[in-house]
Amino acid sequence: MVAGRTIRGDEAKSERAESFSQFASTLTGGAVAILATADPAAKAEASRRLAAIWHAGAIEVGHATPPQRPARPARPALRPPREMPKRRAFGSASGRVALLHALAHIELNAIDLAWDLVARFSREALPRAFFDDWVGVACEEALHFELLMRRLADFGARYGDLPAHAGLWESAEATADDLLARLAVVPLVLEARGLDVTPEMIAKLERVGDLKSAAVVRRVYCDEIGHVAAGVCWFDTVCGMRGLNAAEAFRERVRRCFKGELKPPFNHEARAAAGFPKHYYDLMKS
Ligand SMILES: [Fe+2]
Ligand SMILES: [Fe+2]
Repeated sequence: MVAGRTIRGDEAKSERAESFSQFASTLTGGAVAILATADPAAKAEASRRLAAIWHAGAIEVGHATPPQRPARPARPALRPPREMPKRRAFGSASGRVALLHALAHIELNAIDLAWDLVARFSREALPRAFFDDWVGVACEEALHFELLMRRLADFGARYGDLPAHAGLWESAEATADDLLARLAVVPLVLEARGLDVTPEMIAKLERVGDLKSAAVVRRVYCDEIGHVAAGVCWFDTVCGMRGLNAAEAFRERVRRCFKGELKPPFNHEARAAAGFPKHYYDLMKS
């Protein structure tokens, strides 16, 4: 049995190495292979490895077509938001596990959103710095997912134990044919919304004495300011390339491609730290 396991383990390793060398021949090929990887831990690990290869200057961008939806593991069960159990109070371990699980699910989607952005818009005339930034974001999302997985393990839990939100890829599908819409909706609406709500989450975790979880969420929060900053930088750059007024283009894309409404209160301080001008979004609040 042990020998059998070793052989299968070696085969799996060499298969992984082989498929990695195939997908890493170009950045977009690697991104598509990661999108097609269902296993969350393997997705996160491959993200960090591809980022290292890219940042070493070993591969070109290339062109590869991303799947309509990324591969997902059999668990967690994905449910529409109305069927999701209400989040319990953070005072109980089970309440904190539910929070960490929900955040892990968001980070897993964020890994795929970053790789999808890299692959989907690779045919546009974008400088290498664009890919540097979004590969960096993908790598940080992978790290966030891993940090949350580790914290879940401290509670004897793992990603997949609870049901998760089914709708997180809808924004990607609604913006699949428009780079400006993707940048407006994903980093500048969804990730900026994360900046609005996360400080309260950190404070609540600290209030109940869960400093380890609070530290993980704070780390994520600090990195996400950089993700919003990358969104602003590239949204403005692409608007400049196309001769568009960035604030108007932002509002038009959000109206057209984002189903919900921008909900105050906004965390103006964190948004300003990301370089996100208030006049882009403040007039759009419900
Ligand atoms: Fe993240
Ligand atoms: Fe992010």
